[in-house]
Amino acid sequence: MNSKLIKIGLVGLGGIGSGIHAKYLNTAEGVRLVGVCDVMKDKADAIAAEYGADAYYDYKQLLEKAELDAVVIAVPHFDHPSVAIEAFGRGIHVLCEKPIAVHLNDANRMLAAYEDAKRQYPDLQFGLMFQERTYPGYRKVKEMIESGELGQLTRATWIHTKWFRSQTYYDSGDWRATWAGEGGGILTNQCPHTLDMYQWLFGLPTLISGHAHIGKYHDIEVEDEVTAYFEHDNGMIGHLIVTTAEIPGTNRLEIIGEHGKLVLEEGELVFHKNPKSMLKHSRETDQKFNTVKPERIAIPLEQNLPNPHEYVASRFFDRLKGGTEKLVAEGWEGPRSLVLANGIMLSSFSGQALAVPFDTDAFEATLKELAANSKYVKKTVKPMEGNDDLSASFGSNG
Ligand SMILES: NC(=O)c1ccc[n+]([C@@H]2O[C@H](COP(=O)([O-])OP(=O)(O)OC[C@H]3O[C@@H](n4cnc5c(N)ncnc54)[C@H](O)[C@@H]3O)[C@@H](O)[C@H]2O)c1
Repeated sequence: MNSKLIKIGLVGLGGIGSGIHAKYLNTAEGVRLVGVCDVMKDKADAIAAEYGADAYYDYKQLLEKAELDAVVIAVPHFDHPSVAIEAFGRGIHVLCEKPIAVHLNDANRMLAAYEDAKRQYPDLQFGLMFQERTYPGYRKVKEMIESGELGQLTRATWIHTKWFRSQTYYDSGDWRATWAGEGGGILTNQCPHTLDMYQWLFGLPTLISGHAHIGKYHDIEVEDEVTAYFEHDNGMIGHLIVTTAEIPGTNRLEIIGEHGKLVLEEGELVFHKNPKSMLKHSRETDQKFNTVKPERIAIPLEQNLPNPHEYVASRFFDRLKGGTEKLVAEGWEGPRSLVLANGIMLSSFSGQALAVPFDTDAFEATLKELAANSKYVKKTVKPMEGNDDLSASFGSNG
């Protein structure tokens, strides 16, 4: 690996930018935070002073003048594509916050710009901040599925309602929870990790049936409660139930395979192992009802792992230093969670199940119409003092 100092820029100094990224970027080995950028001058000046970086108020100026090797993008989602595309054109590596973009057409434009830039800069890297992929519970589930321990999968049901957000949260930023500012609700902001995890574990479905409720529990114009049903080409069905309105919330991932049931809940992973394949048993037994007694096995999970965001970034930096280990999430994987997010909404808008792949122009056109016709007037208030613990906004390890 080469030992050259990596010069990093950070765009977007809000909750995640200043609260998480700036802190570890400042101390990461072999890395120097040389430029920070926010359209709010005061924020940029304050963070620049705190970390000894230069302040910029326009991301193009940062990309043009700061002599960056890489940029971390932490602006609201609609701006991810413009910043990334400008960076790729200059040969600057990109680590982009989730979701890669709001809709598939934008994500595909980013990937096209990346591929184009790679002709001139073959080593150019594009990583995504899907830090939940590092959580031990999810990693163990993936390992067990891929090793064939569960056999043929028949159902995955994920209830994830631990994304509680109050009206104060939604009122805390002008862009939040509006079609024009954010382009969606829970599927676009809170659930990209869950959607990425679903596709990471089970692949993409071939059919999506989505049921989204718009502003059901909050004074917002986007969805805050969603139920989706998926069909996969291997016969597996999937369910996703998510909301920002439940207390207490649940995060329960239940996976049924022919060899048993795997449940990840409250950070505990339990395998209810069948003594033989339930599919084979069902075909062959002379008993009318269930006589199979599964064995309950608690699966130990790794503890004390490094800070997830920092770990994703460190793998990205290793690549820039010439390392060959895979990134936690590569840019090309970003559109896959958007297939789920956009597909669920498109199905819900039309009231019909949707075959995958679907018409990405239709989703973009619907989104533009919603943004153009928005009547919602945001009433922005400052969030309550002492209530800004960002860690409470992340997902948990099952
Ligand atoms: N990986 C995670 O767990 C995680 C957690 C929180 C947020 N995020 C993602 O990070 C992004 C930012 O979220 P946030 O909660 O920090 O939002 P935020 O509103 O707190 O901060 C966004 C910041 O970007 C600035 N900004 C807006 N447009 C800009 C532009 N064009 N150029 C420069 N600065 C600009 C704003 O002034 C603000 O300071 C979102 O895409 C969100 O989905 C990811």
